[in-house]
Amino acid sequence: MTSGNTLTIGADQTIGKLDRNLYAHFSEHLGRCVYEGLWVGEDSPIPNTKGIRNDVLEALKRISVPALRWPGGCFADEYHWKDGIGPREDRKRMINTHWGGVVENNHFGTHEFMMLCELLDCEPIICGNVGSGTVQEMSEWVEYMTFDGVSPMAELRAKNGREKPWKLTYFGVGNENWGCGGNMRPQYYADEYKRYQTYVRNYGDNRIHRIACGPSDGDYEWTDVLMREAHRHLDSISLHYYTVPGVWSDKGAATGFGEEDWFVTLKKTLRMDELITKHSTIMDRYDPDKRVGLVIDEWGTWYNVEPGTNPGFLYQQNTIRDALVAGLNFHIFHDHNDRVRMANIAQMVNVLQAVILTEGDRMLLTPTYHVFDMYKVHQDAERLELRLVSEERYSFGGESIAKLSASASKDAEGRIHISLCNVDPSNAAELSIDLRGLAGGGIRVSGTELTANAMDAHNTFEQPDRVKPAPFSEFAVEGTSLRVKLSPMSVTVLRIEG
Ligand code: AHR
Repeated sequence: MTSGNTLTIGADQTIGKLDRNLYAHFSEHLGRCVYEGLWVGEDSPIPNTKGIRNDVLEALKRISVPALRWPGGCFADEYHWKDGIGPREDRKRMINTHWGGVVENNHFGTHEFMMLCELLDCEPIICGNVGSGTVQEMSEWVEYMTFDGVSPMAELRAKNGREKPWKLTYFGVGNENWGCGGNMRPQYYADEYKRYQTYVRNYGDNRIHRIACGPSDGDYEWTDVLMREAHRHLDSISLHYYTVPGVWSDKGAATGFGEEDWFVTLKKTLRMDELITKHSTIMDRYDPDKRVGLVIDEWGTWYNVEPGTNPGFLYQQNTIRDALVAGLNFHIFHDHNDRVRMANIAQMVNVLQAVILTEGDRMLLTPTYHVFDMYKVHQDAERLELRLVSEERYSFGGESIAKLSASASKDAEGRIHISLCNVDPSNAAELSIDLRGLAGGGIRVSGTELTANAMDAHNTFEQPDRVKPAPFSEFAVEGTSLRVKLSPMSVTVLRIEG
């Protein structure tokens, strides 16, 4: 081994939990995410469980989805929940003005969403309507979902077939209220937030974690004003940041791109670290004990839609580049585990950086899905102290970024998992790993790798397994040290057992 890339891990130095909710998801009434992707209806020829398609359900169960955000997104601020309850054939139809102008039949509503969460054994995250809804509407929704006893909304819920309340922990008070959620100033939103959240009640022993609409990208004024005016009334604020290789009018292609787009995409992904650091520093001013969480409830790549598809449906392919975007983002979230306690990929199925794509009765798992699968070992594990010296840089066009990225955790059984990304599309990377503080002598090592032979390698309905994880054996063990050789453009997870 000739390169000077080194990774030193304090195997006995834990620095906080990696909350399972860092691996949460987002599903919006947008394009084919909810309808077709998740919900096909009970009468569909596609095999389903109470209307949820079985193939997608089983695949999602395998990655242990911890929490799911719904119904938007921009859709949330024009959603009126009472339109989505009661007999389906009687539900109001509306135009989804944000996303393609299509008719929304409201067949997937509160009961269907809560049922999906129960089937997935995940926590629901409801995003309420501040932009075009009322305080009463939001208040009644919470009562409908969580009140246990005699009340108008609890009775309505029972009439619609659900006697028992649901457990609801996470509630978002509006979405992107600086933009599609009402175009508000931060001062105005902070006041509105405080008014709306007052009536988001804790009924019985249900305790709601209130998520306020936080900033987009580098809007530090929004964070400052919101925290100054409202930090005592909230539990978390959100942050939205998408990786867009181009500009909004021409975001770049999901496939068929060159190395410049590869480089720019990964470089822009790394900006997540700077954004979290700066927003968190502002939050520290008002909340030095870090009681308030930063929830990255929309992240992922955003490219031009697939040619020939509805521009309002945000349907894009997903390549090994997206797998690296996911790996890098997860490492950044891990690095900020003192402040970042939840992150939601946008979105779960068929929209933006989806983990699953569907076409009729067919389904495929994207490279991003495989990263969620490989990284699920980090969920609720203890983060380990590490120092990565990525001596080699990945350079392109006169610029460079670190070639390697790493994170490590210890699970409840004492197993250590190390995740590694090599962002260089052409060159392998050699890395020496030193595990310090391990009791006993030898270690057993196994690994899984996700890589490909082209920058835009992806899975199609004809070739669904072109990019998939494989056992990794390019390592040599010496005592408690390891020497590994990471393939070009790869995501690798090592398991260390003592
Ligand atoms: O995820 C797509 C859209 O991106 C969401 O609806 C909105 O919140 C964001 O602008």
